[in-house]
Amino acid sequence: GNSVKDAWDFSEENYKRVDMILHRYPTNYKAAGIIPLLDLAQRQNGGWLPVAAMDKVASIVGVVPMRVYEVATFYTMFNREKVGKYFIQLCGTTPCMVNGAEEIRATIEKHLGIKEGETSKDGLFTLREVECLGSCANAPMVQLNDDYYECLTPASTIELLEACKKGNPPKMGRWGSLPMNGQVSCEG
Ligand code: FES
Repeated sequence: GNSVKDAWDFSEENYKRVDMILHRYPTNYKAAGIIPLLDLAQRQNGGWLPVAAMDKVASIVGVVPMRVYEVATFYTMFNREKVGKYFIQLCGTTPCMVNGAEEIRATIEKHLGIKEGETSKDGLFTLREVECLGSCANAPMVQLNDDYYECLTPASTIELLEACKKGNPPKMGRWGSLPMNGQVSCEG
């Protein structure tokens, strides 16, 4: 068993959500709850998943911990190390790449003084390059926490980072909070 130091548990409030999640699946398919439970655990834990949190999810759904580690490792939305308050997933797949993703990455790296995979000294930002996020028509784009920011230029990227520093990233308007945001292209 875990030592006291390693103990991790859902909050009382979140246990209600755990129950709701598990009720969606037949009792013999509780493992289907691994992804939503990891997501819930990560949100409770400030954006990342310590091993003890993954162990807790494994014990709740009744699988060996390795199965949960594999899921958490496979999906880029799960972080197994601490990340910044603003977790930037930059799409680097071909449609974004040919539309300037590398320039966006260079802009972010220079503006924040970090390299891809790193967290800024102030703990505000983590930059990670990921595969296609399904918003190719509005490339280049990033996902910042739960929101999409599309049709990026170096200038709008800096504007976005500065808005985050003020604790106020835009939700709508120039940038979409959903893929496409009703646009058919970046020129639209
Ligand atoms: Fe970047 Fe699809 S290639 S969102």
